[in-house]
Amino acid sequence: MLTSQKVIDAINEQIGYEFSAELQYYAIAAHFAAEALPQLSQHFFQQAEEEKGHALRFIKYVVDAGGRVVIPAIDAPKSKFKTPKDAVKLSLDQEIHVTQQINGLVALARKQDDYITINFLQWFLTEQLEEVSSMDNLLKIVERAGTDLLQADEYLARVGLRSSFDSRTSQRITPGSLRTSPSHWRTGLAFNVQRPISNSEDRTHRKRLTMR
Ligand SMILES: [Fe+2]
Ligand SMILES: [Fe+2]
Repeated sequence: MLTSQKVIDAINEQIGYEFSAELQYYAIAAHFAAEALPQLSQHFFQQAEEEKGHALRFIKYVVDAGGRVVIPAIDAPKSKFKTPKDAVKLSLDQEIHVTQQINGLVALARKQDDYITINFLQWFLTEQLEEVSSMDNLLKIVERAGTDLLQADEYLARVGLRSSFDSRTSQRITPGSLRTSPSHWRTGLAFNVQRPISNSEDRTHRKRLTMR
């Protein structure tokens, strides 16, 4: 085995967290769909698919490293929210929490001089920065909209969410690029696609979409 059982156990736990995040985002997506807020709903459906992609990426790593995948029990997600802001705040807290968990995995791998795992986890660190930042943006948008959530929904349709520009290319990311972002084909990537999509490929893809 290319890594220790301790690391495999911690990654198996993380697989549970990723699936749990997936369920939570589906619950929020359904909540916004029921509130007739299609853009917000679509955003969370997309987030759910991304979390599934994360879980599959970890599953593939455990298999590649010669470990055994043990998926833990997943708690039921929260389905009722007093206000839309509560749902988005819960999502931001969840992303911050997941970031701490990934940091914990890196710390564990470092303690064991497990460079393969450290290298594997780099993608997740970059991903978390993006996810926390975009969820923080969404919270600001929802707060600004106040009780008129249609405004937030329209804003998402017009401007999109992932922040206003790509720091590498300084190109604006359009709402169109969001809607067709690679999250859908990222979903099944871990097992169906030979080579996982890197953050930079992801950015290149979005850039290409932007230029269309
Ligand atoms: Fe995740
Ligand atoms: Fe996430």
